[in-house]
Amino acid sequence: MENIKELIVKAAKILVKSKYAVCITGAGISAESGIPTFRGRDGLWRRFRVEDLATPEAFHRNPNLVWEWYRWRMHLVYSAKPNSGHLALVDLERMGILRCIVTQNVDGLHTIAGSKCVVELHGSIRRGRCVECNFKVVFDAPPEVVPPKCPKCGGLLRPDVVWFGEAIPSDALNKAMQLFSKADVALVIGTSGVVYPAGYFPHIVKEKGGAVIEVNIDESAITPIADVFIRGRAGEILPKIVEKIRLI
Ligand code: OAD
Ligand code: ZN
Repeated sequence: MENIKELIVKAAKILVKSKYAVCITGAGISAESGIPTFRGRDGLWRRFRVEDLATPEAFHRNPNLVWEWYRWRMHLVYSAKPNSGHLALVDLERMGILRCIVTQNVDGLHTIAGSKCVVELHGSIRRGRCVECNFKVVFDAPPEVVPPKCPKCGGLLRPDVVWFGEAIPSDALNKAMQLFSKADVALVIGTSGVVYPAGYFPHIVKEKGGAVIEVNIDESAITPIADVFIRGRAGEILPKIVEKIRLI
């Protein structure tokens, strides 16, 4: 078994040699910013039922309940700051190593951290979308009154996120597919890898003979195909990888 230091060196070398490294992130990268994950020990899906809160049917049945839950999550997100994991990914992009981040997170923290190329697969909790006319609203704070109404037509706004049973927006999906089809390295950070299509992207890279580097506090569905699996927190491991790269 290699120790963490050796694994960090290995990851740094692979990244430096890469021609087109692409990253997929999940809730784990924002955990150190105080935003709960979904499936961990204190994960949201341990406390709440998906079918009550994160499906189109749930919203149709009880928009108030769904909005109350989103408003609570918005409070957490709006008071959160990017952590050293997000910032290390900004560094990797500025160094010309990381081409883009595809994220399943709806918190917007990669962009706030300073990453330029970010594909949000599951939408953004910072936006609402009208169920009648599709108008999009950017919230600068969680809505005071729920459910919020469309400023254009007065219709009901819904969170502009992807719920279970819904399709990924086609522009985001196409961009992500393009990126992972080109990539020779997939950096997989803080995701359980069980939600598709995100869980599939690292496989595209692996099947073409590219390398998969994973950082996670636990093994995930991606770990079996990882060339380098580093067990640890994103906020601790990613800055160490960046530091190593600077020394190569
Ligand atoms: P999960 O909650 O399923 O997984 C979070 C992963 O992060 C787990 O594998 C943890 O071990 C890992 N983790 C936790 N803290 C970490 C840390 N500090 N550093 C590194 N890793 C850490 O979250 P996702 O995989 O993002 O979708 O979930 C995917 C999708 O399922 C979400 O986008 C959401 C959810 O239902 C929708 O709502 C559509
Ligand atoms: Zn409207």
